[in-house]
Amino acid sequence: MSIDIRDATPADLPTILSIYNDAVANTTAIWNDSQVDLANRQAWFELRQQQGYPILVAVDGAGQVLGYASFGDWRPFDGFRHSVENSIYVRDGQRGQGLGSKLLQPLLERARACGKHVVVAAIESGNASSIRLHQRHGFSITGQMPQVGLKFGRWLDLTFMQLILAPGAMPPQE
Ligand SMILES: CC(C)(COP(=O)(O)OP(=O)(O)OC[C@H]1O[C@@H](n2cnc3c(N)ncnc32)[C@H](O)[C@@H]1OP(=O)(O)O)[C@@H](O)C(=O)NCCC(=O)NCCS
Repeated sequence: MSIDIRDATPADLPTILSIYNDAVANTTAIWNDSQVDLANRQAWFELRQQQGYPILVAVDGAGQVLGYASFGDWRPFDGFRHSVENSIYVRDGQRGQGLGSKLLQPLLERARACGKHVVVAAIESGNASSIRLHQRHGFSITGQMPQVGLKFGRWLDLTFMQLILAPGAMPPQE
């Protein structure tokens, strides 16, 4: 299957919305209980544009969006401005075929191009495929937080992973 990775456009948002809402309804990847509407994804798209942060989509030969990936600020305090948190979603039925990897690699390149130093991944501890995916791209587990979440009637543990994009790089003198 030939897969193109490109920047998302507003025309991709209905499919991104359906992938997102499926993850809300059926997975512990997103710790929300409520589905969102198209206006919510449009606002998110505009925020990413204002921030200069990418939303990448994986598209098959027929032009169908099979997954997407992005990053946003990790914590809203000045001192965290060189760290971002990524998110990556592959459509149900398309997982386990390398699409996550195809999205993550260029996403990390975009984080470098944005001048970021660290990419954080906050992953539900039972999400073995996401942990594996991030490990394959050089992320290490840096934190474990038992029972900080609740979904589907059970406590959820959070695993923090991170990648330092340029180990040893001196802090920028801003
Ligand atoms: C997590 C997710 C993005 C990964 O994307 P993907 O396209 O399935 O990932 P890939 O096929 O590129 O790689 C998955 C890796 O996990 C491995 N894997 C899959 N299921 C696994 C399991 N149950 N246990 C351990 N490893 C597993 C695969 O073998 C592969 O590793 P490999 O490259 O060493 O063979 C995708 O499964 C997804 O969208 N899940 C739902 C949403 C989600 O969890 N998003 C991440 C939130 S942190």
